[in-house]
Amino acid sequence: MIDRRGFLRNTALGFGTAFLARSSSFAADSGSTIEVLLNEPLGTISPNIYGHFLEHFGTTIYDGVWVGEDSTIPNVGGIRKQLIDRLREIKSPVIRWPGGGFADSYDWKDGIGPRASRPRRTNSYLSNDAHAPAGPQRDDPNRFGTNEFMRFCQLTGSQPYLTANVRNLPAQDFCRWVEYCNSPAGTSLAEARKAGGATEPFGVRYWGIGNEQWGYLTAEEYAGEFRRFTSGVPRYGLDLQFIASGPVTDGWMPEGEWTRQMREWIHKLLEWHPFFSFPYGISLHYYAYNLSRRITNDLTGYREAMGDALKFEVVDWYEMLRQSDQVESMINTYWRTMGEQDPDHKVRIIVDEWGVWYRPGTGLGPLNVQGQAVTLRDALASALNLDTFNRHCDKVAMANCSFLINAFGSPFYAQGENFVTTPVYHVFQMYAAHQGGQSLRTIFDVPPLQYLRDGKRASFWGLNGSASLRDHELTLTVVNPHASEANPASVVIHGGNVKSGTVTTLAHKDIHATNTFVNPQEVHPTTADVKGSGSKLNHTFPPASASLLKLSLT
Ligand code: AHR
Repeated sequence: MIDRRGFLRNTALGFGTAFLARSSSFAADSGSTIEVLLNEPLGTISPNIYGHFLEHFGTTIYDGVWVGEDSTIPNVGGIRKQLIDRLREIKSPVIRWPGGGFADSYDWKDGIGPRASRPRRTNSYLSNDAHAPAGPQRDDPNRFGTNEFMRFCQLTGSQPYLTANVRNLPAQDFCRWVEYCNSPAGTSLAEARKAGGATEPFGVRYWGIGNEQWGYLTAEEYAGEFRRFTSGVPRYGLDLQFIASGPVTDGWMPEGEWTRQMREWIHKLLEWHPFFSFPYGISLHYYAYNLSRRITNDLTGYREAMGDALKFEVVDWYEMLRQSDQVESMINTYWRTMGEQDPDHKVRIIVDEWGVWYRPGTGLGPLNVQGQAVTLRDALASALNLDTFNRHCDKVAMANCSFLINAFGSPFYAQGENFVTTPVYHVFQMYAAHQGGQSLRTIFDVPPLQYLRDGKRASFWGLNGSASLRDHELTLTVVNPHASEANPASVVIHGGNVKSGTVTTLAHKDIHATNTFVNPQEVHPTTADVKGSGSKLNHTFPPASASLLKLSLT
């Protein structure tokens, strides 16, 4: 059933780049149609949709980002240089730190002052995890603190997004962290910042008020914490944006119960307006992980429900993409529910953790906690997430790919001298063209693909993606999820003509393909020119691919 026309895959890939070069033309029609409506803009795609998430556990910070100034690994002030260079290439606009769950046990004061005299602390976030061996996740050396993170952001051209510890630090500590970061010279904390090498304020605008607070607070309790933490915070002339922790999102409970809890959470959070200002956004976390195809109603079985990052069947390929795609219905449900309290939609959605999550075992060794191989499947999952955020740019103000480095779904992996960009990196590189563009309504009239799930027929869309326009440059990104069939499609541009263009394709003959330190270029994109001109373009999207069409319009 899955491989009904499987031979096409070999035909398409056998031609390699030559095939790709010939696969776009202004010739006869084909079965699938993609209509781009230039006169129907959906809103501006915030560059912040292309953000990342950095949290301390395993080797994400130590070894991943921070190698230390005395390291033989090329670094800028202790920060891994290759990571800086590559993050600049993908124009990472914003980085969230220090967590995640870690943020709710982190004391920012441990991470300031002379590095050598900073305290070593237990990383209480993962120290009780049976899968976490001894190492930096149990023994946080605090070498990478606020100044180092800010330096990292400055070097990569990203904005910082800091998450406050709501669980076990008082609101006053949060105010002081804001002061440390943003106060001009004159206060004791500004002097402390200066002693750490930063005379100028960091100008941090994005502040998360806790992480996943639904884990231990009721809706009413969290709403109170949010108001307490955000009232009376010094602004220093900045337009501070407070991001509220969102309601439970992972579908760990029956559908009706989840909706009820979400409604209550949002209701409590927004009900006291106008006495308190609305949050800038409400956080939504979504990981695709449940490959066992059974719903886990609690956290006890969630590891068993996860699939393997590398060893998977074709059905798991489709299931992972299908589960990733559910982020769209979550965004829509969130938005509707938020609208009940906030009909003008002043509050936006911040998807500050999204990605894939597999069972442990495919990472870089025991210290690389939550390290997992990143394959072509994860690249397509990332591509369809980014396409979703583009299409919903009126709702989603920021999104942060989980994780930045050395954990599941990361665009980068590093270990000592070794560094590699994963297939996910290539998606960010390709999709960066959307940043700041006007998202356009785009209709995918494409037959769905069919596959077998547990002996029953299942289906998934045949092609999907997003389009945006900046000046006269049209960017169209398209995912073909079919594991083995190419999809020939007509791209019709309503309201414009193509003058010239290029097609960049990320594909591989093996859906399990990954980049490793030994073979870092196994999965990489190829680019070819679009031939001809006009308002209709025929293009064959290779199997298991993400494509970027950059078209100059007249
Ligand atoms: O391990 C990643 C964790 O997943 C984050 O800390 C938390 O926010 C999420 O539940």
